[in-house]
Amino acid sequence: MSSLRPPSQARVSNTGRVVLVTGGCGGIGHAICLAFQESGAAAVVAVDVVQDGTVLVPPHVEYYRADVSDEASCQASIDWTVNRFGGLDVLVNTAAIQPPASYVPLDQMTSELWDRMVAVNLTGYTNMAKAAVRQMLLQRSGVIVNVASEQGHRTARQVPAYGPIKAANIMQAKQWGIEYARQGIRVVSLSPGAIETPMLRSTLDAQGGGAELANRHPLGRIGQPFEVANAVLWLASDAASFITATDIAIDGGLGAYGAFADPY
Ligand SMILES: NC(=O)c1ccc[n+]([C@@H]2O[C@H](COP(=O)([O-])OP(=O)(O)OC[C@H]3O[C@@H](n4cnc5c(N)ncnc54)[C@H](O)[C@@H]3O)[C@@H](O)[C@H]2O)c1
Repeated sequence: MSSLRPPSQARVSNTGRVVLVTGGCGGIGHAICLAFQESGAAAVVAVDVVQDGTVLVPPHVEYYRADVSDEASCQASIDWTVNRFGGLDVLVNTAAIQPPASYVPLDQMTSELWDRMVAVNLTGYTNMAKAAVRQMLLQRSGVIVNVASEQGHRTARQVPAYGPIKAANIMQAKQWGIEYARQGIRVVSLSPGAIETPMLRSTLDAQGGGAELANRHPLGRIGQPFEVANAVLWLASDAASFITATDIAIDGGLGAYGAFADPY
């Protein structure tokens, strides 16, 4: 439905700022890298595990290959960024996995898959934040954004690892936000609904298919990665200077929609 009324635009300037995005070669991470780069960031570093990430990141985004489940690699990625670009203003944690094999009831979940999802989706966020905070404490400034999920708030069948870990990503942001509130560091989490990315496409069948999933969102569609990126840009900017230790839904109304409501 298009309106005849004029659209509104919010503009954010990241001139001079240094930004690191984990999972920067994935759907949401790529859009976030692009948004920071287009808004004038001095440097955007995409940290990911893909073999040749340089072909996957937007032009002028730096690629640093690291597995976020490895603490030393995370520290090394922050050190590399700071040594090269002189500081770190924003860390965005998006690197996570949700393999199709994880869509099983708890009793069928292998301990190997559980351990890997905890290592990447939970410990990975902590590893990166820990290294980033050390630099941000020196600067007495910085913003950390954890990309969580609506599945961290309310759950579904067959997400025995993904959902609980996403809830922990929300609580990580609250805890870190409280811990460093008086030292110039803000921390927030975002809870997207379904967003059109490779991760979503690989799990669509398990979620009932594209049309069904879109219709479960009150806005009647799946979200686009740039819609998450827009929120990250704003939250990481000084326009959001009184926002910390909280979670923001980017979910087309999904979180407000009761299971008892008439389906659209
Ligand atoms: N797509 C959705 O519908 C949706 C909804 C809610 C939340 N999320 C969350 O958004 C974030 C991004 O999801 P996406 O849909 O863009 O996924 P994606 O699979 O497209 O991207 C994830 C990226 O993380 C990278 N990655 C995986 N393991 C890594 C590791 N060990 N170290 C470093 N990088 C690693 C992958 O290579 C990939 O580039 C995730 O945290 C996801 O849980 C996604």
